[in-house]
Amino acid sequence: MTAEYIAIEGGDGSGKSTVASAVEKRLIDLGRETMIVREPGSTGLGESIRELLLDGDDMHPWAEAFLFAAQRAQLAAEVVAPALAEGIWVISDRTYFSSIAYQGGGRGLGMDTVRQVNEHGLDGVVPDHVFVLDVDVSVALNRQDRPDRIGGEDEEFHQRVRDAYRKLSEQDPERVVIIDNTLGLEEVVTRIMSHLP
Ligand code: TYD
Repeated sequence: MTAEYIAIEGGDGSGKSTVASAVEKRLIDLGRETMIVREPGSTGLGESIRELLLDGDDMHPWAEAFLFAAQRAQLAAEVVAPALAEGIWVISDRTYFSSIAYQGGGRGLGMDTVRQVNEHGLDGVVPDHVFVLDVDVSVALNRQDRPDRIGGEDEEFHQRVRDAYRKLSEQDPERVVIIDNTLGLEEVVTRIMSHLP
């Protein structure tokens, strides 16, 4: 069986990293080799870019979009593609679907434009399955203890991000699955597993 590339997506405060770890555990129990990566990050360059993006000062929306795309091109070439080639399943805490939702939808740069910019740098290394953990924006925002530069944006911004994720699922329902995150960890993970081969 070929390795799959799985994206865990969602708004800020949606608990993606807990879900990513729980999915990894189930896959290991099924005998799969796995790896978790996060975006932005998971390479030397990516972790440096992460600091610029999340702790730095305000930046032009396109500077932000290109920095996300830059760390992602590096991650795809250096980590994700080689892992998949070795049969390792990759679970990613965010992927370029975050850029389409946050920079394309939230910042208003345009979902299709941001998708295209990113795809130029990915050489076909795109997720096979995208799970969007969906929660009410105000509930999720209240859950963040120390919001980063982007997580600290206002509620309207985060509502645009949520709407963008929904649109992505409408455009490609086979690949992009919205999961109601109020169902609780066990049920969320069971639903995710039911979509995987
Ligand atoms: P993350 O570390 O996943 O934070 P959280 O756990 O709070 O969701 O992501 C950091 C922030 O970066 C988050 O506000 C979402 C944002 N982001 C984008 O705006 N575009 C992107 O392409 C990615 C990967 C993240």
